[in-house]
Amino acid sequence: MAQKFVIGNWKMYTTAAEARHLSQAIAAGIGTDDSVTVAVCPPFPYLSLVGEILKGSRIALGAQNLYPAKEGAFTGEVSPTMLLDLGCQYVILGHSERRHKLGESDAFINQKVRVALSAGLDAIFCIGETLEQRQANQTKTVLDRQLFQGLDGLSAATLTHLSIAYEPVWAIGSSGHHATPQQAQETHAVIRHCFGQMFGERSAQTLAIHYGGSVNPKNADTFLKQTGVNGVLIGGDSLNAEQFLAIVQAGISQTQSQVEAA
Ligand code: 13P
Repeated sequence: MAQKFVIGNWKMYTTAAEARHLSQAIAAGIGTDDSVTVAVCPPFPYLSLVGEILKGSRIALGAQNLYPAKEGAFTGEVSPTMLLDLGCQYVILGHSERRHKLGESDAFINQKVRVALSAGLDAIFCIGETLEQRQANQTKTVLDRQLFQGLDGLSAATLTHLSIAYEPVWAIGSSGHHATPQQAQETHAVIRHCFGQMFGERSAQTLAIHYGGSVNPKNADTFLKQTGVNGVLIGGDSLNAEQFLAIVQAGISQTQSQVEAA
């Protein structure tokens, strides 16, 4: 049985003092059960600070973006080498906020995924449809395009360092819409099928696909128990240590009940 993931995406929130406080509280409350993989992704300016606090804990550090070059004249950008230097293991790429608010294309995201993987980072590749696309029955078409273009040319050897986060744009944050666990499960199956067409059935079976969009301590369990949902990517509730730790606990309980049922 594959290990479940709980990943916090802090987005563009926290001050230095808040980032310190939040990471200290998460590190203090995480406990010793390591049956769930836990990572937090603070904003760039606090990676170093949070990384120092998490050192020696079982919580991994991740970034929310990178620029697809080792170094160079790219004012304001951050390279994979810098992320590794700061102790990052993960990087979130292709988040819908970057696709829709910052205009990132599938081709640009593809460059980022390739560079991240070849640098040795674990890429969390985000995909998801908008409400209009879902209502127009275009979900599969959109996800297939994001997968085919975003993962184009990846070598099979790097796939173990890739996971996918399915985040329906309409279910993120305070949109007022929530995906049902059933919708998440169905869409994860669509994604896994497409991935299988690209990289073969074996790779598809071992691929971790996370769900993101208004996940909280009350509903985390219902998503995590769905077949094919391997983890959750948390926005709002990752900014509150108590809520985030409650979601981690939901993952641990879910893992225990799966072990007992096996
Ligand atoms: P929320 O959990 O706030 O809906 O955000 C989800 C998300 O975008 C995580 O990347």
